Amino acid sequence: MVKNKAPIKLGEKVLFIAVGIFFVMAVLGFGALEYARHHMHKPMFPVTVHYTFSAEAKRGMDFFFRGNCTDCHRALNSGTNMGPNMDLDGIGTKHSEAWLYNFMRMPERNYGYETLDHGVGKAASYVALMKPKKLHAIAAFLSALKAMSGSPVSPLPPSERSPFVDSMVKKFAPKSWKNGSFKDMRRDKRVADEHSGTSSSGQTSGKRGGAQ
Ligand code: HEC
Repeated sequence: MVKNKAPIKLGEKVLFIAVGIFFVMAVLGFGALEYARHHMHKPMFPVTVHYTFSAEAKRGMDFFFRGNCTDCHRALNSGTNMGPNMDLDGIGTKHSEAWLYNFMRMPERNYGYETLDHGVGKAASYVALMKPKKLHAIAAFLSALKAMSGSPVSPLPPSERSPFVDSMVKKFAPKSWKNGSFKDMRRDKRVADEHSGTSSSGQTSGKRGGAQ
């Protein structure tokens, strides 16, 4: 007869204890991180977006935050960010206001490839059905979110020098890079102005970030 209840083997005990320790560490680590995050005076991650909002963009911001966009997206550092193209901070540097409007209105036609959520019958299909006036305001809001240097969507690298990158360039970059036959984005005045985050208008403007 085979016994139904075999005693736990040593290997199994070790495995259970290891998994248990792992679980407890994960819970404690998460708790500690959340505690630290709530008690920080500076944002945990550098935020590299700056903005100047017109009256329409401000209305757009309301529509954005009340329109459930943050279920999937993040802007001005709030909301979720669960995949590529979900973080909309800096999107105003990547796309024009017209592109943003056209994308929201007719995602399938303007996205370039099949959408995951914005197309007809998909989770975010309601966006295309919003009133054109609202979508224009949201497009104005999003296009005002400009990336600062160092943001993933910025054409400019972070302002600090990196000895590692410098040494890699020295070693591996093609000769043509070094003798100046390429266009250095950083010397383009238009780009530099846009990325400095300076704004002299009286509209709502600001920089969100701990990177300064
Ligand atoms: C259910 C999730 C979901 C919701 C809700 C949602 N989106 Fe999206 N959004 C996506 C996904 C996924 C993409 C990438 C394109 C795709 O596959 O649909 C995207 C792409 C975008 C893009 C283009 C980004 C880029 O860089 O190409 C914009 C702009 C955008 N959404 C705006 C909005 C706005 C504004 C709202 C609210 C009114 C909203 N979205 C609500 C999931 C969502």
